[in-house]
Amino acid sequence: MPNPTADDRKRAAALKALEFVRPGMIVGLGTGSTAAHFVQALGKKVKAGLQITGVPTSASAHALAVDAGIPLTTVDEAPQIDLTVDGADEADRQFRLIKGAGAAHLREKIVASASRRMIAIMDDSKLVEVLGRFPLSVEIVPFAHKTTMRRIAEAAVQAGCQGNFTRLRGGDAHPAVTDNGNLVADLDCEMIPDPTALATALSAIPGVVEHGLFIGICSTLIVGRGDGVEVIDAMRPSDAG
Ligand code: A5P
Repeated sequence: MPNPTADDRKRAAALKALEFVRPGMIVGLGTGSTAAHFVQALGKKVKAGLQITGVPTSASAHALAVDAGIPLTTVDEAPQIDLTVDGADEADRQFRLIKGAGAAHLREKIVASASRRMIAIMDDSKLVEVLGRFPLSVEIVPFAHKTTMRRIAEAAVQAGCQGNFTRLRGGDAHPAVTDNGNLVADLDCEMIPDPTALATALSAIPGVVEHGLFIGICSTLIVGRGDGVEVIDAMRPSDAG
């Protein structure tokens, strides 16, 4: 395809991820525009006879999956999720992700962590050398949220981040509210030199429900590029095609 758009590259990654779905699987369904391509394409396979069961990661993923005709279950009902396919805001080649631009990262992390395998699908603008150019989403409880946000900025400094800046998503007048009734702080670090240190520090703050760093959860990246799709797998050499 000549000059594929970012959306074309997202769709190409999503279609490649379909190749990892096997009959009978329980499949975690991610949130966002890239995951939406996957859910829609999976729905077509289901209509054509593929038997799988989906586990949505958000209210919007649930609605999309229902529209696509995918039979659904929940994390609590599923004995084991075989595969979760989800988008990302950023990824590095150590399979560390930033997620949460859609404010769904808490449920996304619960579903992905309950899965044997997580595949992250994205266009090539999301694959970076160092995480952090994209603001990190941190879900926080409404109570004392300004104090929690100050602590988030302090934790970022302690974890070696510079230029730290937190803002409440949506602003004070109309804050964004997650599916879980919480707020979202966006942490703008520019660069996260030590994602594990930052993840540990954020998780220790009372008032933080979950941050958008996914570390040790994802093992495969599928990256849509202008010249094809790259599969980067923790277990196998990189494969472009
Ligand atoms: C939802 O909260 C996010 O984690 C999304 O998965 C992520 O923002 C990727 O979204 P897009 O595929 O729309 O870029």
